[in-house]
Amino acid sequence: MFKDGLLKGKRILITGGGTGLGKEIATGYLQLGAEVWIAGRRGAVLDSCAKELTDKHGGTVRTHVVDIRDAQAVDAMVQHIWDRAGPLTGLVNNAAGNFISPTKDLTPNGFNAIANIVFHGSFYVTHAVGKRWIAGGHKGSVISILVTWVHTGSPYVVPSAMSKAGLHVMTKSLAVEWGRYGIRLNAIAPGPFPTEGASKRLRPGGSFEDSNDTNPMRRIGQMPELQNLATFLMADGCEWLTGETIAVDGAGYLANGAGFTGLDKLSDADWEKTRAMIKTQNDKDRAGRSA
Ligand code: HXC
Repeated sequence: MFKDGLLKGKRILITGGGTGLGKEIATGYLQLGAEVWIAGRRGAVLDSCAKELTDKHGGTVRTHVVDIRDAQAVDAMVQHIWDRAGPLTGLVNNAAGNFISPTKDLTPNGFNAIANIVFHGSFYVTHAVGKRWIAGGHKGSVISILVTWVHTGSPYVVPSAMSKAGLHVMTKSLAVEWGRYGIRLNAIAPGPFPTEGASKRLRPGGSFEDSNDTNPMRRIGQMPELQNLATFLMADGCEWLTGETIAVDGAGYLANGAGFTGLDKLSDADWEKTRAMIKTQNDKDRAGRSA
């Protein structure tokens, strides 16, 4: 779809770039010639992703272990990139956390576990990068990976819906405030594109294909469709496009509104089972972080 070397000369940071949608976007950028930085909490996961991608596609993938909930660590990471490689040209706010739960059962800690990553963490990264672009007189492009719940709201994922809605408003606000510096902010709201992290926490025991019957295009997303949109928004040539959140969901949210409404039918026992399955995945991920 794009000409070879389209992203040559771009240096792009992708948070949560070692797995899931972040890894797919990193792959797309790398194939088109960008220098890619992937950041996340698990060094071993980042390293093996970087090796896999450069073995397959060549190019440069650098890694940085960071917890984006820690504003100081985020600032140090961004300074390290500037010092070691030079200014970034792009940022993808992809790192996120989410799990399904009845909102009445959430503790303040449970709410914060999501809001600290998505709402606070994504702001810290955007701020650390944006203020350096402004100080150095550099243009830049930010893409935040959101969800269509920013338009509809969504039951059973309220901390995520609230946090992503905050980033939707950040996108619009900073597009205006930073437009005069040549800094653009856009967002992508993907429908179901299955990844391990999302499947285990949002569809435990179920499948992303469950939504096929109700999607106007009768299917889930294909990764190149997401990669192509992320590339288009990052490439030169659409500099006047800013402040927008673009859904890529086969018109799913227009047809069906909020996701997860079907979880209304789960019993307390179903929820107990669901929570145990999510806990297994969280424990597995946490073990990888301390390794
Ligand atoms: C209720 C839960 C819970 C659950 C955790 N908690 N899981 N509460 N139901 N299923 C509560 C805990 O009880 C605890 O509160 C608090 O949350 C913190 O739990 P920890 O496990 O200690 O948190 P932590 O290790 O920081 O893990 C954060 C996490 C984890 C968000 C819970 O899942 C994570 O790091 N995920 C990152 C990857 C991820 O989630 N990927 C999917 C993204 S999908 P108490 O009070 O007990 O201490 C996405 C959108 C996709 O973002 C959209 C698709 C359409």
